[in-house]
Amino acid sequence: MQRTPGTPVKLLAIVCLAAPLHAGAQVSNPFEGDARAIRAGERLYANRCAACHGADGKGATGPDVTMLWLEGTNDEHVFQTVREGVDGAVMPPSFAPDEELWAMVAYLRDISTVPPFDPAGGDAGSGREIFAANCAQCHRVNGDGGTLGPDLSNIAAVRSREALIGSIRDPSETVEAGYRTVTLVAADGERIEGVVKGEDAFSIQVVDTDARLQGYLKANLRRFVHEDESLMPRFGRLRLSERELDDLLAFLGTLREDASADR
Ligand code: HEC
Ligand code: HEC
Repeated sequence: MQRTPGTPVKLLAIVCLAAPLHAGAQVSNPFEGDARAIRAGERLYANRCAACHGADGKGATGPDVTMLWLEGTNDEHVFQTVREGVDGAVMPPSFAPDEELWAMVAYLRDISTVPPFDPAGGDAGSGREIFAANCAQCHRVNGDGGTLGPDLSNIAAVRSREALIGSIRDPSETVEAGYRTVTLVAADGERIEGVVKGEDAFSIQVVDTDARLQGYLKANLRRFVHEDESLMPRFGRLRLSERELDDLLAFLGTLREDASADR
């Protein structure tokens, strides 16, 4: 927040209370992409918003809310709209806790349409081969492929081109919820790397790098470490040229039509 010299402290306090989120840079959603929060947001949305915006967000008496990001909004703006309501319209303000509003924003973002995918001249046929050689061991598309990483059948419908390039060039930048890396050391000293699928106080379930789902009792492990790095290797320019990346994106873009039927 910018403090103007000499502004009475009391006024600042009121401004802060009334608009805590307008201060400083754009506020990002603490729950973005968090699968559990998205499910919670879905339930909250069904209870509080669906009557006016439609069960699928496509609009009823209220407008379609699946196009907001396509129209260039951001998470914070949607949050504020839901918090404050819309003056002069039936859209009511909400007094729910911030966490609930962010969960609904995460849900709306999850169901929202992203800008039409731009194949940018890539060759989808060549991209299919690049995918089979470099990616399919960990990723499924339309029912085929590995399970260590997320299914990518519908990825071009839910992620922007920039986000996809980021995920491929530098996977550890944003690691998907549900695919966090863990290293386990068993009692006999064996090291196991994998992604965490479930964890409680006593046990941990991991898909290891051979794509086997294994459960371990924590008491039987010598140690386990949650890693910040993604299990996905970086595909820098030496491994994947700009041209190959364009082809790959064009291929992922073609999947979108096949998969959109079940969304
Ligand atoms: C009583 C009906 C009603 C309810 C309940 C309602 N809305 Fe709305 N909402 C509207 C209407 C009508 C508008 C359009 C207001 C305008 O711009 O004239 C709107 C606008 C919006 C917008 C802005 C859309 C845009 O194009 O900028 C968002 C986002 C939104 N609602 C989200 C929600 C969420 C999330 C909930 C549940 C917490 C909710 N609304 C509950 C009726 C409702
Ligand atoms: C060794 C396994 C492995 C290989 C090979 C691999 N990935 Fe991944 N990928 C993962 C894992 C695990 C994640 C989830 C963690 C993360 O987000 O980094 C992931 C995440 C992603 C995401 C993000 C998904 C999302 O929901 O945003 C994209 C996109 C992606 N991979 C594309 C590719 C492409 C394209 C290739 C081939 C050039 C590839 N991956 C190769 C394991 C792999």
